Amino acid sequence: MPTNTKKQRIRKAVFPVAGLGTRFLPATKTVPKEMLPIVDRPLIQYAVDEAIEAGCDTLIFVTNRYKHAVADYFDKAYELEQKLEKSGKHEQLDLVRNVLPEGVRAVFVTQTEALGLGHAVLCAKPVVGDEPFAVMLPDDLIWNKDGPGALKQMADHAEKFGVGAIAVQDVPEEQTASYGIVAVEGFEDRHGAIRRIVEKPQPADAPSTLAVVGRYILPPTIFDHLEKTGKGAGGEIQLTDAIASQIADSQIDAYRFKGTRFDCGTHIGLVEATIRFALDHEKISDAARDSMTKALQELGVIDLS
Ligand code: UTP
Repeated sequence: MPTNTKKQRIRKAVFPVAGLGTRFLPATKTVPKEMLPIVDRPLIQYAVDEAIEAGCDTLIFVTNRYKHAVADYFDKAYELEQKLEKSGKHEQLDLVRNVLPEGVRAVFVTQTEALGLGHAVLCAKPVVGDEPFAVMLPDDLIWNKDGPGALKQMADHAEKFGVGAIAVQDVPEEQTASYGIVAVEGFEDRHGAIRRIVEKPQPADAPSTLAVVGRYILPPTIFDHLEKTGKGAGGEIQLTDAIASQIADSQIDAYRFKGTRFDCGTHIGLVEATIRFALDHEKISDAARDSMTKALQELGVIDLS
């Protein structure tokens, strides 16, 4: 029977951002996927803000040797700050300075070879040490406008019960082969203990239609499982395989978060997120609405005459 782990606050979040981002080529030839903007902020900023809101003060970025842009983004930009200050652009200065609030530190770890998500998480082991931690995939942008972010919801649950947690959402049956799929003993409120987890099963083999999305809270013993995990689907070291062996030892719950998830690892997901955030943006919402209405009229999708 899996046991509960120590009730501990989640302070560290790992951002595996060493993938090649091939779906967004040619843009990702020079701009990492995580730096693609949703209106005026890069994808990574949304994930970072969510982690900080959940109580994390140590952000661990697993990057590859070509991705200087992510580290540069979180570094201090002396010249730019000086110029903005001199020209009295205080609003912009605040935006540049507040990329990371005081008291939050960023640590960068290199994944020397893109051997998969599981391998990327394992690269963070020396920094995470012996405490439960979060893993966040910035491609999954989760928006919960008037309530706590997905990771905060999960961290509250994990800390209260001393369990791990993985964000899940229901997907149409024909999409199971694009996700890790879990089988849960039964749901109480928004959570249920995971009994099985399978990476990208065909609909006929899927144990359910509950799909894993990119937010995890894991115990430090996951590293032992990752070290023993061989190459799985796609020749990569899969985080899902390590979780499948972890659930025999300690409880990990599937957590149905409140909020809307945009899969910004796909073209349409990135566009949907951009539209949604533009329509809600404090400065451009009216203009965005007008522009979209006009485009739909011109295309004959709507007729307001
Ligand atoms: P994806 O499967 O989305 O791969 O990785 P990708 O390379 O980012 O994008 P595509 O499919 O080629 O367009 C899921 C997450 O795991 C990270 C990615 O950066 C992404 O956040 N990852 C993947 C690594 O950090 N290292 C790897 O070896 C593989």
